[in-house]
Amino acid sequence: MDDHPHMRSYGRIKSRPIKPRQAALMDTLLPQVRCPTAPFDPAALMPGAEEVWLEIGFGGGEHMAAQAARRPEVLILGAEPFLNGVASAVRHIDEQGLKNVRVHDGDVRDLIARLPDACLTRVFILFPDPWPKARHHKRRLVQADLLTELARVLKPGGRLRFASDWADYVDWTLERILASPDFRWTAGRADDFRRPPADHITTRYEEKRLGDCAPVFLDAVRT
Ligand SMILES: C[S@@+](CC[C@H](N)C(=O)[O-])C[C@H]1O[C@@H](n2cnc3c(N)ncnc32)[C@H](O)[C@@H]1O
Repeated sequence: MDDHPHMRSYGRIKSRPIKPRQAALMDTLLPQVRCPTAPFDPAALMPGAEEVWLEIGFGGGEHMAAQAARRPEVLILGAEPFLNGVASAVRHIDEQGLKNVRVHDGDVRDLIARLPDACLTRVFILFPDPWPKARHHKRRLVQADLLTELARVLKPGGRLRFASDWADYVDWTLERILASPDFRWTAGRADDFRRPPADHITTRYEEKRLGDCAPVFLDAVRT
């Protein structure tokens, strides 16, 4: 699973035991909803899908499942390396009978590498591990290389949403978005990034308010 020696998860290294029902779903449902392990065209996974979205680091999968329930015509790919999160997500997929979610139980960078150019219309990075210490900044998910790869897989006009309640990570990400030739930040007024966007669904980490500022939402468009 871990081709990336620098991938670490902030505060979630240890897994809790997985409940028996979720463990059973990991054996039965996960193989049915897992993303292919070789290069693939996501549109082919759900014929008739109007769009394909990607959620990076879906945690317990609540946001992914709620968006999928709201938009059954959209196929949502979700990536999450931590098994407890994946187990929770497959439970949501099962309980809500979702047919439009596919899961990559690993590092998102491995999933993105298998995707063709311009196949996605939306990407979500919601409350990623903050890595607040300067010496750990290199572990942050948002790096220029990731933005370059996301630009490759997003269609022109596709959207990237980043949210965080760590002020320094917001600044860090905004700097990289503004420096990227591939993205344009869409906020017009301060309220545009301090208020949750209309289609936002509150995430589990967001509710914990572990950061040092109120949640900030950065929406950027692939140019
Ligand atoms: C702070 S949690 C937030 C989870 C969720 N988005 C939420 O808001 O509740 C960050 C998540 O990103 C995941 N993550 C970290 N590195 C990742 C990577 N390289 N690829 C995919 N997910 C990753 C972690 O396992 C963790 O579940």
